[in-house]
Amino acid sequence: MADNPIVAQPAPYKVDVTEGKTYFWCACGKSKAQPFCDGSHKDTGLSPVKYTADADKAVFFCGCKATGKIPVCDGSHSKL
Ligand code: FES
Ligand code: FES
Repeated sequence: MADNPIVAQPAPYKVDVTEGKTYFWCACGKSKAQPFCDGSHKDTGLSPVKYTADADKAVFFCGCKATGKIPVCDGSHSKL
């Protein structure tokens, strides 16, 4: 069974993404390279979530790992 994710930080991470580039959002909260996966999910039963940027823009990736709109922040961190 998968572990519950841990809160990396109770706020989003703002990242300037590049159009066409693929990113792997950390779903488990254990990565030291937040908001992205560094392989630390090994043994958690959780997996990173792929995100491909559709434009050059700023994206607010969820840091609390409780968002309902994976992988971006939907404001759920304010209810933790
Ligand atoms: Fe968290 Fe990979 S380190 S999903
Ligand atoms: Fe997770 Fe905002 S940081 S919902």
